[in-house]
Amino acid sequence: MRSQSPIAAYRGMLLHFVSDPGEGDNGRAVQFFDDGMLVVEHGRVKAAGNAASLLPGLPKQSQVIDCAGSLIIPGFVDTHIHYPQTDVIASYGSQLLDWLERYTYPAEAGFTNAQQAQQMAEFFLDELLRNGTTTALVFATVHAHSVDVFLHSASKRNLRMIAGKVLMDRNCPEALREAPMQGYLASAALIEKWTGQGRLGYAITPRFAVTSSEAQLQLAGQLAREHPQVHIQSHMAESKEELARVRELFPSSRNYVDVYDRFGLLRERSVFAHCIHLDSDERRRMAHAGAAAAVCPTSNLFLGSGLFDFAAAREAGMRVGIGTDVGAGTSFHMLRTLSEAYKVAQLTGQRLSAWRALYLATLGGARALGLDDCIGNFEPGKEADFAVLRLDSTPLLARRVRACSSPAEKLFALIMLGDDRSVAATYVMGQPAYSCKLLSQRK
Ligand code: GUN
Ligand code: FE
Repeated sequence: MRSQSPIAAYRGMLLHFVSDPGEGDNGRAVQFFDDGMLVVEHGRVKAAGNAASLLPGLPKQSQVIDCAGSLIIPGFVDTHIHYPQTDVIASYGSQLLDWLERYTYPAEAGFTNAQQAQQMAEFFLDELLRNGTTTALVFATVHAHSVDVFLHSASKRNLRMIAGKVLMDRNCPEALREAPMQGYLASAALIEKWTGQGRLGYAITPRFAVTSSEAQLQLAGQLAREHPQVHIQSHMAESKEELARVRELFPSSRNYVDVYDRFGLLRERSVFAHCIHLDSDERRRMAHAGAAAAVCPTSNLFLGSGLFDFAAAREAGMRVGIGTDVGAGTSFHMLRTLSEAYKVAQLTGQRLSAWRALYLATLGGARALGLDDCIGNFEPGKEADFAVLRLDSTPLLARRVRACSSPAEKLFALIMLGDDRSVAATYVMGQPAYSCKLLSQRK
């Protein structure tokens, strides 16, 4: 019979971060234990550290789950993704503005059908869990029901998810437009309905400056002032063509950051996807406001948008998280996304260490979303959302890891060679939410 003890202890390799490890192997920021243990009680972290130190303090009837050879890591935080674009992934041959017209807007227009939205939300959330992601900041579509079905599905899985209804009133198909006041009222109703509901959150979601008039951005800013705790999400400075459009549409703004800042959309808990083509003044302004960039390397390479400058962002003190940006992004998996981030850094003459990459995908993402008081690492009392990753999920990864002599080398190999096959299990508030049934349980 299974133990009635509320305490479960997961024993394996363990990694989490207490701060940004920067570029070096900063001893304090990185908490790595070769034979580690995560102790969970009532869905929260009770302790994390060396198994040898924690084992003697466990109550006798505690359940110990053997994850030997696997890595226990906080659930990944995806700071930018579009659930309605699940079927748009891997669409050939376009750059941003053409890709939106050709593939994305038609797919989003299909969301007038609530049943279709419901099915996609279910698939999407299962896919996140299969990839070890437990929190995401998510674009829905312009339709209010697209948020309702998504957050309802997330609440059934007890997931910490934030989503918002897209606001657009120009430069997009008629079917996806609405008058600024209509978007304002629909957003306000969704905020009222969903904020404070369990682990869910709402994000005010003007798509980007190209598809919103000044009147719409002004109302989005008003919503943000009326609801200071809710998130804001948008896109910014992704492609050069987009930049030129924004200059035409907002001739009195100094630059792209200025467009959003003028309307009160730059603040803590506001997250802007991409932030590639910014100057140092814009980066400083973002950092000063506490706004975050969601870096989306698979998307940026896929659409040919450009290369994010990690060093400049760090120098400016900007908050940074990682986003998959599905459907322009080409993978739901944070490891696949980090491996492209590494290559983007290489192309800009920089380096992204395994530590910093995994920090960005966990605690860095939680900080970008202002959720680091409840998720992102294994500090006692935090919500026990975590993934167990196999380092032998393919013959090649197993072979490469065997040849490594340090933890940093092993984790770098995992980033470069790992994928969804590496996810043995994903836990949400201490409960198994996905498992490929490879973990053994002992009493
Ligand atoms: N800019 C405006 N909308 C979008 C979108 O849906 N995806 C991406 N990658 N960029 C955008
Ligand atoms: Fe996006």
